[in-house]
Amino acid sequence: MQLKLKLSVAAVITAVAGMASAQDMVVKIGHVAPISGAQAHYGKDNENGVRMAIEDLNAQGVMIGGKKAKFEIVAEDDAADPKQGTAAAQKLCDAKVAGVVGHLNSGTTIPASKVYNDCGIPHITGAATNPNLTKPGYNTTYRIIANDNALGAGLAFYAADALKLKKVAIIDDRTAYGQGVAEVFKKTAQSKGLQIVDEQFTTDKATDFMAILTAIKAKAPDAIFYGGMDPQAGPMLRQMEQLGLSKVKFFGGDGICTSEIAKLAAGAKTLENVVCAEGGASLAKMPGGTAWKKRYDAKYPGQFQVYSPYTYDATFVLVDAMKRANSIDPKVYIPKLKETNFKGVTTTIQFEPNGELKNPAITLYVYKDGKKSPLN
Ligand code: ALA
Repeated sequence: MQLKLKLSVAAVITAVAGMASAQDMVVKIGHVAPISGAQAHYGKDNENGVRMAIEDLNAQGVMIGGKKAKFEIVAEDDAADPKQGTAAAQKLCDAKVAGVVGHLNSGTTIPASKVYNDCGIPHITGAATNPNLTKPGYNTTYRIIANDNALGAGLAFYAADALKLKKVAIIDDRTAYGQGVAEVFKKTAQSKGLQIVDEQFTTDKATDFMAILTAIKAKAPDAIFYGGMDPQAGPMLRQMEQLGLSKVKFFGGDGICTSEIAKLAAGAKTLENVVCAEGGASLAKMPGGTAWKKRYDAKYPGQFQVYSPYTYDATFVLVDAMKRANSIDPKVYIPKLKETNFKGVTTTIQFEPNGELKNPAITLYVYKDGKKSPLN
């Protein structure tokens, strides 16, 4: 008798569980960044942030429109290439994801933003910083970090006011990001009375900078500003050391502000001359930064770079808007996304009408004993 009762209780539980799963709804969240090539370490860090958010959301059990949402990532690789960026964006549109976190590079994010606008799917970048991204005013484009107007200017102010530098040379990699951040730095530096003694150009594929550094050396600058990413900045620091540019400061935006640059500089002392800027608070000053970073490191040891706390928050911001709209249909939840007021790990996220983050912070960093350390 007792056994029979036990069996029937088990049957009821199974039946109820079956009913609940019939009510589940799969919600696809796209992520896209370079997962292959020289910038793969940034992209993997970004993707990890989204994966971690999805795990946390699934563990919370989110209800949308009376159904239990089961979040799944649709992960794409754009290889930091603008053409692959638009192709990946189109794939995410075709996969009918509910929203996208991405991309990493301004050079991919800007052209991809038009694709998302055309298919009506919102995307939030936690990494692309060129101000032009939000110029078209698409209601599908959002950014949750400061843009290069803040980064470039912050670095120029520091060079002029804190370090009292006089002569700066500029190099950029001719990408939307590198060129953009270098232009803002240049304008602000000139307005502060700094002299731009040389301007040189490279690409985001180059690794030999001896010729341009030799040309710059002849102009005897106090600092070099580099607009670009760490696969170039690391070898550049090594080659600066080889050329005896060991006292020259090395400035750059968030693209060089990684953990990886310390490895890529391969022991060059010039790493100690780096001053870089990031478009948010330091982990220690983020509302949830320290505890979050501990969990991230436990899940993805040695993979932290820069932006994963932002891609984590970006995922939550999309889902928060879906919850408030009670719908995963972008047409229905975009108006709620615009009204976001979300307490994230990185900050409290609210958007300007053009999709920029309200009141973004910036932090300057230096490298001490090979470790990135905040200055403010
Ligand atoms: N902030 C860098 C960019 O915009 C990653 O490309």
